[in-house]
Amino acid sequence: MDHSPVSPDSPEPVVSAADPIAAANRIPTPSAPPPDVLRCAYMELVVTDLERSRHFYVDVLGLVVTEEDDETVYLRSFEEFIHHNLVLRKGPVAALAAFAYRVRSPEDLDKAVAFYSELGCRVERRREGFTAGIGDSVRVEDPLGFPIEFFHDVAHVERLAWRYDLYTPGALVRLDHFNQVTPEVPRAVAHMEDLGFRVTEDIEDAEGTVYAAWMRRKPTVHDTAMTGGDGPRMHHVAFATHEKHNIIAICDTLGALRMSDCIERGPGRHGVSNAFYLYLRDPDGHRVEIYTQDYYTGDPDNPVVTWDVHDNQRRDWWGNPVVPSWYTDASLVLDLDGNPKPVEARKDTSEMAVTIGADGFSYTRKSEEDLPDWKKGEYKLGAQV
Ligand SMILES: [Fe+2]
Repeated sequence: MDHSPVSPDSPEPVVSAADPIAAANRIPTPSAPPPDVLRCAYMELVVTDLERSRHFYVDVLGLVVTEEDDETVYLRSFEEFIHHNLVLRKGPVAALAAFAYRVRSPEDLDKAVAFYSELGCRVERRREGFTAGIGDSVRVEDPLGFPIEFFHDVAHVERLAWRYDLYTPGALVRLDHFNQVTPEVPRAVAHMEDLGFRVTEDIEDAEGTVYAAWMRRKPTVHDTAMTGGDGPRMHHVAFATHEKHNIIAICDTLGALRMSDCIERGPGRHGVSNAFYLYLRDPDGHRVEIYTQDYYTGDPDNPVVTWDVHDNQRRDWWGNPVVPSWYTDASLVLDLDGNPKPVEARKDTSEMAVTIGADGFSYTRKSEEDLPDWKKGEYKLGAQV
């Protein structure tokens, strides 16, 4: 491929009018129109120890319990008015059960059935919903192997935006996005574009290999991102805080509770998305991002930003390296019967392989000579105190 807009001579991100990713190995575009997706709405996670997970998400992170029983906890963020943004369901294998999107109207569920049926996907519709608080819903195993839900009817609950008496210093105010791991990013992007998503940013190299892409329906940077790797797997779910200081407060709280091991990466500032971030791992290892202050993307001519994989500010604007576990670890996803989906290996070059040194701890960038001597080997094993 030689279409890549990134240049080996310039480290700067390239701005394009349209998605520069060439579709490869395309999934056919259905003749049936896609459902009108409003936004990422909730994630259903299977957890192995419900009490421990409830402690992490409720007592530590401060998500609000809408409803619960011995098997399931339904949680929402402070500004949410629908029943839940996160479902924790007790089960034998930690995994993702569904990425759920809200659609504009009940008729969009008929469209979802037609769209995925035409693709030959497994489709299941339940008028009573798959989870409490949600009515008529469609779940599919999409052509990329992910379990996806679409729903419109949902119970409204109190929006706690004004309940400052309940806020914690690290209050999570919205579900922001999902992140999925898939072996072939261009193929996944083409399919998501058929579903009506638009690319906001992506990471490529000068040869045209695509390492990740961020895609949206709501007017923020993304509702989901496709991260290149062995998949289908779930990379993370992200909740938004109002401000950067809320993220620092979460770090301080985890330190005070002697739970700093939950912090995997950050806090920091992303290059892609420009958001401030923190990555945590829950008791089962499911990854949760805390995220704030990305940008508005609602105009139809919103420009696409393409980053060079060798730009060491793409994933952290301050140049801090990405820890290897962030690239390698992700959660299994379940099929509609609740069985883990087999994981297919990525064949394209891996981002970790091209950006992290062979020792697994140093990092590379375009011109190694530019690195000051004191920074070379900064993260190498044996260089740590
Ligand atoms: Fe994210």
